[in-house]
Amino acid sequence: MRSYKSKMVEPITLPSRAEREDALDAAGYNVFNLDADDVFVDLLTDSGTGTMSAEQWAALMRGDEAYAGSSSFSELRDAVRDVMGFEYVVPTHQGRGAENVVYGVLVEEGDVVPNNAHFDTTRAHVANQGADPVDCPHPLARDPDADHPFKGNFDLDAGRELVEDVGADAIPVVVQTITNNSVAGQPVSVENTREVAAFADEIDATFVVDACRFAENAYFVQQREAEFEDAAVADIAREQLSYADAVTMSGKKDALVNIGGFAAMNDPELFEHAKQRGILYEGFPTYGGLAGRDVAAMAVGLREAVEPPYVEERVEQVAELGRLLAEAGVPVYEPTGGHAVYLDAESVLPHVPKDRFPGQELVCALYLEGGVRGVELGGFAFPGTDRPDLVRLALPRRTYSREHLEHVAETAAKVKQSAAFYEGLEIVEEPPMKELRHFSARLEPV
Ligand code: F0G
Repeated sequence: MRSYKSKMVEPITLPSRAEREDALDAAGYNVFNLDADDVFVDLLTDSGTGTMSAEQWAALMRGDEAYAGSSSFSELRDAVRDVMGFEYVVPTHQGRGAENVVYGVLVEEGDVVPNNAHFDTTRAHVANQGADPVDCPHPLARDPDADHPFKGNFDLDAGRELVEDVGADAIPVVVQTITNNSVAGQPVSVENTREVAAFADEIDATFVVDACRFAENAYFVQQREAEFEDAAVADIAREQLSYADAVTMSGKKDALVNIGGFAAMNDPELFEHAKQRGILYEGFPTYGGLAGRDVAAMAVGLREAVEPPYVEERVEQVAELGRLLAEAGVPVYEPTGGHAVYLDAESVLPHVPKDRFPGQELVCALYLEGGVRGVELGGFAFPGTDRPDLVRLALPRRTYSREHLEHVAETAAKVKQSAAFYEGLEIVEEPPMKELRHFSARLEPV
């Protein structure tokens, strides 16, 4: 049962089949090129697409637009201290701004940075420093059927092997991403966070947590880690983050805002350096590239994210979508993650060879059959890797109802029934940077 009601609505419409065909054709079979107005249920991302609360809208009106010393910043600083346990905050325009600030300070050319799995922008910021981002995922991470409560964990054995290979001196930072977006949104246990903190300590590295979805992760811990079954989500979140030296945060996820982010830490020296880099790239340290009102809304959202029953409903809604899809006979990554359901495109379209992009074809088919927009995270988005062709259906927070989820499951079932119609795609136009091709490439049915 939802513990909220709507007080503002945004109409959405399902274009006709013919209109969807035309729209997809005009978009070059790339859903990033679609007009959002032509999408019925938009599951492209959970980032910045959620619904704010009445309290957040009220905070927007109260936002203090002072260039320096804004009271909205004081509200954010207090919220970060109370909810996450960090003394110092550098606000940024979004999560990648926080990555630039933190990794720009801590990482140098030739360094190596292990992470349970880097999100794209994290990888790019580490690489941008001339360093090598290395993933250390849980051994079961790639198995969509393996049953394990914390498939998002950091693999310590892989971390230790890396130290043997490159030497501790080459590793200035160890990162843990909670939940693990690049591994189907799978959670990370507090025990694993403690172990990774100890590992970072052993090699004298700074331990950074990518905390974008820290509240969703804490809910999983409460449900799945025996030590925490009686603990409140807010207490679990604070404990898990207490092992980190610093966090990078995209407010567009678990701070429930449409834009914003920050880096936070307890070490005054790291703060001083991050603050200086923040001034260079983001703005004065009390607004960080944001309007004061956005800082104010982020402060409120951060507190709401760990309050019951919000986060339980949030994660359970994602699980419900996973269940509806599985019941409709569509193969999904198990267990479902915190923010998204990942479909196994190679099982839905088994006759489409990898070089005809079964994942991207499934994304297009979901749009054609029901105006649903997901995103491919496989061979099209990550050329040259051996990633399985997964399609992510990410749920915006507090936005869609059970009827929308049913529509998504029915749409996926229709795709499965008419699978033979979908024979794959070929790229007809791509940008020079292969890593970014999925954002703008154009394709055609083969
Ligand atoms: N870290 C993780 C784990 C993320 O999922 C994201 C964004 C970022 C960092 C960067 O944050 O977008 O505010 O700059 N993920 C979005 C997504 C874009 O769709 O998964 P940002």
